[in-house]
Amino acid sequence: MKKVVLAFVACLSLWGTEIDKETGLKVAKGLEEVKANCTVCHSANFIIQSKLNRDEWLTTIRWMQDTQGLWEFDPQTEDIILTYLSTQYPQSNTSRRRPQLDKSLLPPK
Ligand code: HEC
Repeated sequence: MKKVVLAFVACLSLWGTEIDKETGLKVAKGLEEVKANCTVCHSANFIIQSKLNRDEWLTTIRWMQDTQGLWEFDPQTEDIILTYLSTQYPQSNTSRRRPQLDKSLLPPK
């Protein structure tokens, strides 16, 4: 059993997403901006556990800005952060819930 686990871990590291040791976030362009702005009030686990598309990430940021005291970003920083989030923590179709059917496949209302 131990060997299986080791092999699995080895595979994971071969696939090669480098992880920032401090936060657990994936190392990619934008990491510094995200670390500086998004791990101040809460741990990065909120980010790691979220799988959102770009619009939903933006909605989450706006919600924190409206209700949780998150500051405004200049458009460039916001773009870098959103690109990082939606690329590294994208919406996932791997959950057991299947993707929604296309409207054309649904019965007419
Ligand atoms: C000013 C403080 C603050 C900063 C900075 C901040 N957040 Fe948050 N965030 C919060 C609070 C407060 C919550 C709600 C915590 C709770 O539910 O207990 C939250 C919740 C979240 C959640 C979970 C939302 C949900 O659906 O439950 C995510 C994801 C998140 N933040 C991402 C981010 C990202 C990405 C950034 C950087 C752009 C960021 N946060 C920066 C205060 C902050």
